[in-house]
Amino acid sequence: VVIGIDVGTTGVRVLAVDQSGNVVAESTSEYPLYTPRPGWTEQNPEDWWVATQESLHKVIQQVKDEILGLGLTGQMHGSVFLDERGDVIRPALLWNDQRTAKQCEEMTEVVGYDKLISIAGNPALTGFQAPKILWLRENEPENYSKVRHVLLPKDYVRYKLTGEFATDASDAAGTLLLDVKARDWSREILEALEIPLEWLPKVFEGPEVTGYVSQDLADSLGLGSKIPVAAGGGDNAAAAVGTGIIKEGLMSSSIGTSGVLFVHSEEFRPDPSGRIHAFCHAVPGKYHLMGVTLSAGGSLRWWRDLLGGLNYDQLSELASTAPPGSEGLLFLPYLTGERTPHLDPHARGSFFGLTARHDKSHMTRAVMEGVVFSMLDSLQIIRELNVEVNEVRAIGGGARSQLWRQIQADIYRLPIKRTVAEEGPAYGAALLAGVASGIYKDVEEACSLIALRDEVTYPDESRSDLYARYYEVYKSLYPSTKDAMH
Ligand code: XUL
Repeated sequence: VVIGIDVGTTGVRVLAVDQSGNVVAESTSEYPLYTPRPGWTEQNPEDWWVATQESLHKVIQQVKDEILGLGLTGQMHGSVFLDERGDVIRPALLWNDQRTAKQCEEMTEVVGYDKLISIAGNPALTGFQAPKILWLRENEPENYSKVRHVLLPKDYVRYKLTGEFATDASDAAGTLLLDVKARDWSREILEALEIPLEWLPKVFEGPEVTGYVSQDLADSLGLGSKIPVAAGGGDNAAAAVGTGIIKEGLMSSSIGTSGVLFVHSEEFRPDPSGRIHAFCHAVPGKYHLMGVTLSAGGSLRWWRDLLGGLNYDQLSELASTAPPGSEGLLFLPYLTGERTPHLDPHARGSFFGLTARHDKSHMTRAVMEGVVFSMLDSLQIIRELNVEVNEVRAIGGGARSQLWRQIQADIYRLPIKRTVAEEGPAYGAALLAGVASGIYKDVEEACSLIALRDEVTYPDESRSDLYARYYEVYKSLYPSTKDAMH
């Protein structure tokens, strides 16, 4: 049995997976998220650690077989600041924290936009780690003077588990400090920003062993000795391992609160316009491209709460009574601003094209279609970068709706498949632990355990053509209303 630990934004999830890939035990523990000011999001790293121990303890108690390894994944981009004793200096700033707009401008100025894209794979974005370090330097100099280590969220939990300062390439790629192609810290960027290299953890590949659970802890948790801890991956890369997105041609389409398109890439292919993310994969030597729509399932949840009284199944049923294209009604899902492709925190949502004919069924369907149009924006950029996609695996809550899967197939013009186990990032982290502990030879072998469901949702050509016409209108709406949004 191997264990995957996902240090998420709402809580930690711990899974135990047996050698055939079955989940044999699981536990989640939640922790609070603080918003000390509008646009700021913080968590206490100690809370992650307390919750991890709690869930780990519960899972270990349920497992009868020997535990051979642990793997880590979690929310990306956050900043954990530690002093010389390894103690937390202040609460961590999270991936969805928006306070660093000024520092992003400074970074772009000092490093240069083109350099950022060609080395770090991405432009300076508020959520990413590097601008958070600059924010601390400018706004809390006393705290800054104590900093000796900067870690990503899951890597703080690793430090508590093993005493080692280590990370993996996929998560490190979300800092803006990594030379993504070389898969190691960029001295050039670090020097330009005057951030000491010694503060950063050593970078490993996803399935590599970064250390062993410290013996005291192993004894108190009832673990054996020398339990390896795999580097793991950022939550999206680990989820991709868990759904088998480890070959070119494969893409996952995840509709949770946010919507994420994740494409495997054999090479580092950053988007020169910076609209989609280029990161390392948790598969050694591989890369990925990723597009993020901030309000995907979040848009449908908003609409559900507004309508009142209907659950998601009933909403899907209601939407299916409206025709594809919702008789010309379009929805822009930018309820919480937008990341891909607009990179615009001030983007706003809207319904466009309302007539007296439209009712709740059209509006519900338009919300579901608008979310997928927004994800198609990312797919179009991926296609422009000459990355071919021929199969999609639908994941997240949105994958449970047959209608939403059909809308995805029709709008992407691609067949949609689903995996049997929909366990998310923790499952991928467990598979990486399986490689680290020697159960599987490599990630490919671990992923051969992933079973697909029999059902496949195929695109329908006439609906795809119809959606292509509506997409042209959809695409024109943001540029033509952007000024009014600001
Ligand atoms: C990825 C991203 C989120 C976080 C939170 O770029 O910001 O997916 O990893 O889970």
